Amino acid sequence: MFSINENYLKLNESYLFSTIESKVNGFTRNHPQADIIRLGIGDVTLPLPPSVIAALHKAVDEMADKSTFHGYGPEQGYAFLRETIAKNDFIDRGLDIAADEIFISDGAKSDTGNIGDILGDANVIGITDPVYPVYLDTNIMRILQSSITSSKILFLTCSEENKFLPELPPKRVDVIYLCYPNNPSGTVMTRAQLKKWVDYALENESLILFDAAYEAYITEDDIPHSIFEIEGAKSCAIEFRSFSKNAGFTGLRCSYTVVPKALKTVTSTKKEVSLNALWRRRQSTKFNGTAYIIQRAAEAVYSPEGRKEVRSMVDYYMQNAAIIREGLAEKGWTVFGGVNAPYIWLKCPDTTDSWAFFDRLLQECHIVGTPGVGFGLKGEGYFRLTAFNSHEKTLEAVQRIKNWKQ
Ligand code: MLT
Repeated sequence: MFSINENYLKLNESYLFSTIESKVNGFTRNHPQADIIRLGIGDVTLPLPPSVIAALHKAVDEMADKSTFHGYGPEQGYAFLRETIAKNDFIDRGLDIAADEIFISDGAKSDTGNIGDILGDANVIGITDPVYPVYLDTNIMRILQSSITSSKILFLTCSEENKFLPELPPKRVDVIYLCYPNNPSGTVMTRAQLKKWVDYALENESLILFDAAYEAYITEDDIPHSIFEIEGAKSCAIEFRSFSKNAGFTGLRCSYTVVPKALKTVTSTKKEVSLNALWRRRQSTKFNGTAYIIQRAAEAVYSPEGRKEVRSMVDYYMQNAAIIREGLAEKGWTVFGGVNAPYIWLKCPDTTDSWAFFDRLLQECHIVGTPGVGFGLKGEGYFRLTAFNSHEKTLEAVQRIKNWKQ
């Protein structure tokens, strides 16, 4: 018989958000009249900004004309988008990142999941707990092969005691996943806090995989939007960005990953290797690039109009975050996040079983959220709500919770 990658058998039977979806579908089959409010998966609800739609239409028309048609594009992304990103997200903010350090992709989920392709199996991986499940699941898929034991993964506890910010690892780790603003807890690291991690990585010759998918939601000063704001980070970090949460691209799919040319390591034979070159090699073999029309749409996010439109979408969702945060606090619940992130992380009232809380919230309030334990064992007893629904539904959800006799 042929064999399979048995690491897959070590994963939960289904991906967190697929499990939630099937639970909700089961509930709606039995209660077709229930007016369900979804504050579960972090999926946006506002339509795409007008500038993005205009760019899409224009690009579609180009594809209909022989003289402007685009076939395969560069696997790393078109220069027009890479240059626009380098200028707007980095150079104009005083950060020295060049277009050829930027790789366009179809989602931060894909890139954070695929980055392990260029890393060795022997690495000890530091992963926060709770965490966006993709980091852990993709490492289980990949590195638990054959004899590798779970000691290859070091969980960095994020709890109320440490304000959901991990402490530096007690032992050396080779690779560390950090996501700030954080999914799921909505917390952020200040510059000083992130600097400790960069210094740790430089000192230990470790790699930081920094997921900045939610940077547009930062409202406070002194919170870095990019890890490259921290001195030395270009020698120890890869950053993942997304157009999903700021510009509403969850259904279009576009993101980018910054792999600085200064980021190098040495092989077992002491040969110096550039991770930028490795990632380029990986992408050109396994990926044929993000669609031309989608890259034109992403470029429009940086136009003066596009910027304003994106800002107002983010503001809209942050008003929802405030509605949830303040509403639940008024009810006496303990809430975190929601200030620099579209996620509100709450302590389950009256239970330490976050799936039991999920079931009751669904059955009694018809509200979908995400159980904290779905993000890791340390998430047990906590629960995540998103700010991505409409104002109306968000207000309604908070009202239902306020009226809820638990
Ligand atoms: C989430 O709800 O955690 C995110 O939407 C998942 C994702 O971005 O893939």
